[in-house]
Amino acid sequence: MASGNYRETYSRSIEEKEAFWLEAAEGVQWSAVPDTALDESAAPLFRWFPDGVLNTSYNALDRHVEAGRGDQDALIYDSAMLGVKRRYSYTELTGLVARFAGVLRAQGVRKGDRVVIYMPMIPEAVIAMLATARLGAVHSVVFGGFAPKELAARIKDAGPSAVVTASGGIEPSRRVEYLPAVAEALELAGARNTPVIVKAREGFAHVAAGHGAWADWDVSMEAAVPAAAVDVAATDPLYILYTSGTTGTPKGVVRDNGGHAVALSWTMANIYDVGPGDVMWTASDVGWVVGHSYIVYGPLLAGATTVLYEGKPVGTPDAGAFWRVVQDHKVNVLFTAPTALRAIRKADPQAAELARYDVSTLRTLFAAGERLDADTYRWAGEVLGVPVVDHWWQTETGWAICANPRGLEDLPFKAGSPTLPMPGFELKIVDGSGAPVQQGEEGNIVLGLPLPPGTLATLWQDDDRYVSSYLAAFEGSYATGDSGYQDADGYVFVMGRTDDIINVAGHRLSTGAIEQVIASHPAVAECAVIGVADPLKGQHASGYVVLKAGVTADEGELLRELIALVRKNIGPVADFKHATVVEALPKTRSGKILRKTMRQIADGEDYVVPSTIEDPDVIGQLLGVLRPESV
Ligand code: COA
Ligand code: AMP
Repeated sequence: MASGNYRETYSRSIEEKEAFWLEAAEGVQWSAVPDTALDESAAPLFRWFPDGVLNTSYNALDRHVEAGRGDQDALIYDSAMLGVKRRYSYTELTGLVARFAGVLRAQGVRKGDRVVIYMPMIPEAVIAMLATARLGAVHSVVFGGFAPKELAARIKDAGPSAVVTASGGIEPSRRVEYLPAVAEALELAGARNTPVIVKAREGFAHVAAGHGAWADWDVSMEAAVPAAAVDVAATDPLYILYTSGTTGTPKGVVRDNGGHAVALSWTMANIYDVGPGDVMWTASDVGWVVGHSYIVYGPLLAGATTVLYEGKPVGTPDAGAFWRVVQDHKVNVLFTAPTALRAIRKADPQAAELARYDVSTLRTLFAAGERLDADTYRWAGEVLGVPVVDHWWQTETGWAICANPRGLEDLPFKAGSPTLPMPGFELKIVDGSGAPVQQGEEGNIVLGLPLPPGTLATLWQDDDRYVSSYLAAFEGSYATGDSGYQDADGYVFVMGRTDDIINVAGHRLSTGAIEQVIASHPAVAECAVIGVADPLKGQHASGYVVLKAGVTADEGELLRELIALVRKNIGPVADFKHATVVEALPKTRSGKILRKTMRQIADGEDYVVPSTIEDPDVIGQLLGVLRPESV
């Protein structure tokens, strides 16, 4: 139920930010309650609640058991892949997490150590995350769709004391053996002797060749001594989550403990309107920030029940899968990516599947991860008959920058807009020089410093990269990398990225990283990868390659090789399936490839050819490739 006033709340969060967040901090149980909200001594790096002490796992689990809600469901696992459902009460989940924390401790994991978690969507992934947090250690979860090389880059950067994995993951079209990937990644990272704990799943190899000493999850759990929650400073890191930057090297976003617990608790009540006893289902993956915040931490911090779904929106077995889960688990709030809604709509435009299920418990549908197009927004609202809330955020911010806060006030919706800035996000739209643009004009979306609690503290062991990547472009502000505009009511419309990041099915990818892989093929002289509009996935990556002089490769064969190369080096998640050989790429006289112009041509938009173009004829040649219907 809406219980406040958005504008008053927002103004207070900007004008009296310290008092605002100290009050919000009362929603968390502290071992030492913070007296100070903000430490500005290392600006532009800011730390929230510098004198607070807590444990996040305790706040997510034990606290609710102690409050008498131990019998309530904390986690419901629903696997559409296996036809399995399993419920965990708060008491049971707390016990399993304490026990697995004991397993990690026995492997030598201590406060501040890193634990890499590479797992499919099974309860043990959640248990491993919460167990790591229980020890005051730092988890780094890597999405299962990444290839060994990407896993290796993350292992190398984080330097884990242990890796937790499972023997396999199940995709509709194939079974994914995890252990060879983990073994290869450890080799590549030069970390062969890192302890590995494996949750065995039926139908997969349980041991990687040459790694017989890896520990078995079930056997280790039996022998483990449960570990108590370890106090950490609010400013100590809870997790690292790597995300695509504009180069091939992923950025290790660091989230702290205190600010994260405070901010997520605030969002559960005020944005999602979810409290103790409610059921929230976030249909994402624990490998993404949406999974970290709203499969794992947010709902559990709020004492709600969270649903962990192993399956897809369509094909497992049909387009009614989501409605079946809502019915079976009496879901109150569903959060998913627009791609999933588009996939359901494509398979079942009249929502005939919906009529087979009782979804009357559903109060609100939230969408994020990519732009929610107006058509999908309207369709979802019409078929479900509940408010559809688009909200905009990033791995870096950890929670919504803009949303329609359902627990705070019933604000009007506007199709295509994620509504208004959330507390602490001092949002401005500026031009390239940092000057504010006219209202209604598109520009760079920037956020004034400090960012609110729960946002990134820095990049893992790289304050300089944090500053140069986010804080250098616009003095005193954080650059979101997104462009957009605000209307007369202040509603924000997010239009797309201003950098070389693309969004495929709600997954964030670096075109630079894909280009790096393609360029490594011996036949390729140069290449450009752009994100082209895709009716299902929002965008897909499309590669344009120029062959080395004298190379006369069979084009079909070459393209198959390039696709395989990207899959091997980045992973199936890149979903790279489109590549074309071209004679030349359009470039400026200084050699910069005009990717934006290429994308505009491919998307059928008006395009601008800069006067600095080296050879204007190249655009004419490319028109036939990028926009074949125009020639
Ligand atoms: N482990 C291994 N492989 C994975 C994987 C995982 N965890 N997740 C995805 N993949 C693979 C898929 O099997 C697929 O491989 P393929 O090329 O061999 O078929 C590839 O990566 C692309 O996967 P996906 O993007 O899921 O495409 P799809 O065509 O299989 O499914 C949708 C289409 C719309 C059903 C799917 O994209 C979807 O559910 N999207 C919602 C995304 C989402 O929730 N994002 C969260 C961000 S908040
Ligand atoms: P990620 O860090 O993977 O969550 O990706 C963040 C990026 O996804 C943002 O910078 C946006 O470009 C895009 N994005 C996420 N949510 C939205 C949304 N609701 N509307 C528009 N773009 C979004």
